[in-house]
Amino acid sequence: MKSNKLFWDSYASDFDAIYGTKNSWFNYTINKLFRGSMKIRFEKTIRMIPEEKVSIIDIGCGPGHYCFSLAQNSEREILGIDFSEIMIKLASKHSEELGLENKLKFEVANILEFEPNRKFDYSIMMGFIEYFEHPELIIKRALAITNRTIIISFPVVGGFLAFQRKLRYKRRCFLQLYSQEDIRRLMELLNISSYAIEKIGRDFFVTINLN
Ligand SMILES: C[S@@+](CC[C@H](N)C(=O)[O-])C[C@H]1O[C@@H](n2cnc3c(N)ncnc32)[C@H](O)[C@@H]1O
Repeated sequence: MKSNKLFWDSYASDFDAIYGTKNSWFNYTINKLFRGSMKIRFEKTIRMIPEEKVSIIDIGCGPGHYCFSLAQNSEREILGIDFSEIMIKLASKHSEELGLENKLKFEVANILEFEPNRKFDYSIMMGFIEYFEHPELIIKRALAITNRTIIISFPVVGGFLAFQRKLRYKRRCFLQLYSQEDIRRLMELLNISSYAIEKIGRDFFVTINLN
């Protein structure tokens, strides 16, 4: 299996295409199968975060599409981090194309080593936690740097599409799918009591409230 970073570097351009910035067979196929669910979680995340001057960190921001949408017509202060330089290059390029470069910051950083000297009101981790064998370490990092709310998507285990996704990722990158029980156990392990789990499409949309 490739290292996760090598995998994401090589997958960056095709992943970006899911958001419709490039047409390819991959774009077409994946859009058809997955876009519904990705779109729901995307819109829900943007709606959840107030438009006033709150600070947000997008952990594993990829090519930056959540950040762009959050930045548009708002006072929000946004930082996107990703350990793939190629993803961050794509994000920076798109932000210039959209004229958002002064409203956003992007940084190459591995969340497991990231120690900012500040906290953020909101942390979002979309399409991210499933790539870690120890999700508790990732949530601990998010708890350490967040003031108000952490928003996480967890892909749902079971069903044909989940099985198909598992097959696609086999030997390419670690991938863990979740049941609602798995998420509850994870929260218990971390002593998190104030959280909500909502099933949206092929994801569980989890909100952890910290105040
Ligand atoms: C499926 S993409 C999701 C991108 C974005 N959140 C979205 O939904 O459009 C997962 C991203 O996580 C990044 N990533 C994986 N492990 C990481 C780590 N340890 N630290 C920072 N980023 C990481 C990958 O480079 C990739 O860009």
